[in-house]
Amino acid sequence: MENWSGIDETVKRWIGEAGENIRASFTHSLSIQSKSNPNDLVTNVDEETERFFIERIRTSFPSHRILGEEGQGDDVQSLDGVIWIIDPIDGTMNFVHQQRNFAISIGIYEDGIGQLGYIYDIVHDELYHAKKGQGAWMNDVKLDPLDPVPVEQAIVGINSTWLIQNRHFDQEKLIQLANDVRGTRSYGSAALELAYVASGRLSAYITMRNAPWDFAGGKMIVEEAGGVVSKITGDDIDMLSVNPVFAAAPGLHEDILNNYLK
Ligand code: IPD
Ligand code: CA
Ligand code: CA
Ligand code: CA
Repeated sequence: MENWSGIDETVKRWIGEAGENIRASFTHSLSIQSKSNPNDLVTNVDEETERFFIERIRTSFPSHRILGEEGQGDDVQSLDGVIWIIDPIDGTMNFVHQQRNFAISIGIYEDGIGQLGYIYDIVHDELYHAKKGQGAWMNDVKLDPLDPVPVEQAIVGINSTWLIQNRHFDQEKLIQLANDVRGTRSYGSAALELAYVASGRLSAYITMRNAPWDFAGGKMIVEEAGGVVSKITGDDIDMLSVNPVFAAAPGLHEDILNNYLK
């Protein structure tokens, strides 16, 4: 039996320290490398931040497993036991080019069920967090349960991949959605966009390819705030693979799913 309150206190302390280190890195020069393609960036700070968490988790919680974007954790093939799903910096391109709109994202799952979720917007010192069954917070302020939002008042987070024809959706319907909603936004950090859905800054977020570390923290936080997270087909998210993710306020999720995505 895990002591989730104790773990929660510990994670918040670690996130604060990691955030300090990242802020301090702004005055140093970055070492930037490309991964799968020239625009898929990773820096020494991504790697150092992942290592920061892994070292501490291994010491304090040796039975827990770790799935991290930069690959320094475990080779996780099943959802059994406690798994920390970590994106040390979500929005690396923003981190490198803009020094804003990036976040640390952590989701802690037990046998596939989210127990604790964290998204830390370092520059704005905004920590979004959630505890299973207890709700979601931004810093010390509890987030109000999300109300249904009509399409014509919705602000939807989407990115440019939707401009490019692909097999996942009917482009005509997406153009219709962009016409029908109040506005669209694109922040370049899946974690922050999910945090914004949880806090009502965005009404929905639709994306084609998110990895577990992109959505693990955010899925928990959105759900604890009363929102809905699924694949763009409406099916359940698979926590161990890449998914097209659709998160939205209640009501709006059903509406967009039935009228624009199916
Ligand atoms: C990326 C960001 C981006 C999303 C990409 C992610 P990274 O994460 O969340 O907004 O569109 O799919 O890979 O690589 O900056 O951690
Ligand atoms: Ca990346
Ligand atoms: Ca990411
Ligand atoms: Ca990342």
